[in-house]
Amino acid sequence: MAGSANLNVMMKTARKAGRGLLKDFGEVENLQVSTKGPGDFVSRADKAAEAMIKEELMHARPSYGFFGEEGKEIDGEDPTRRWIVDPLDGTTNFLHGLPHWAVSIALEHKGQIVAGVIYDPVKDEMFYAEKGGGAWLNESRLRVSGRHRMIESIFATGLPFAGRADLPETIQDLARILPACAGVRRFGAAALDLAYVAAGRYDGFWERGLHAWDIAAGIVIVREAGGILEPLTPNDDILDGQLICANEPIFETFAKVIRNT
Ligand code: IPD
Repeated sequence: MAGSANLNVMMKTARKAGRGLLKDFGEVENLQVSTKGPGDFVSRADKAAEAMIKEELMHARPSYGFFGEEGKEIDGEDPTRRWIVDPLDGTTNFLHGLPHWAVSIALEHKGQIVAGVIYDPVKDEMFYAEKGGGAWLNESRLRVSGRHRMIESIFATGLPFAGRADLPETIQDLARILPACAGVRRFGAAALDLAYVAAGRYDGFWERGLHAWDIAAGIVIVREAGGILEPLTPNDDILDGQLICANEPIFETFAKVIRNT
């Protein structure tokens, strides 16, 4: 698909960051056996990737704002546009040598996500979309799954860790959804969870306690692939980090189960 100039900048930047992170990922596997472990190394790799992405994007579009996971938000001269970036979504996977993580870059304009790129360097999968231009994986058009029976559907979520407050709610969600579906997956990278819904690999996804940078790019990718995506609590800001999405035929039933309404 021939994308806009902005989309090309986003994809080029995601690929460049992905190449650097892929080299670091090779190093992480060696560090697993050291007594100190790879923690500091990964935190440096994460920060270096964000610095590189920030430099590329701000060089290409100096007037846009920048909001990334690792640093302080930068206001742009143009207050209507900002980049929202997670340099490394799936940090815990990366740290443990699990090959499932991604670079996520979104462009927001007047409060709407208008373009998004999620790049998985290990599998060389580039998921991307622009408002009105459809969703894509490398050269192929994406479409959410066509399943319409919950009992045949697979859902993804995130499980709260390290004392996160949403544990009881998530356990209740699981108790309601598991008997009604074909399975629930927890792969550990929310950006890729959303990309996989867009690709029809999962039929739906929900999670609480996420951040804008985990989900911004995925929002436009899922919607452009024909999925329905809403805040878990209707009327909340979608970037607040609690969301639910699925293909159209099952969205309503799935949302009823998760929202317990
Ligand atoms: C995390 C991943 C994970 C989700 C966590 C996020 P990070 O992002 O997306 O799947 O369950 O809530 O914090 O920290 O690897 O960028």
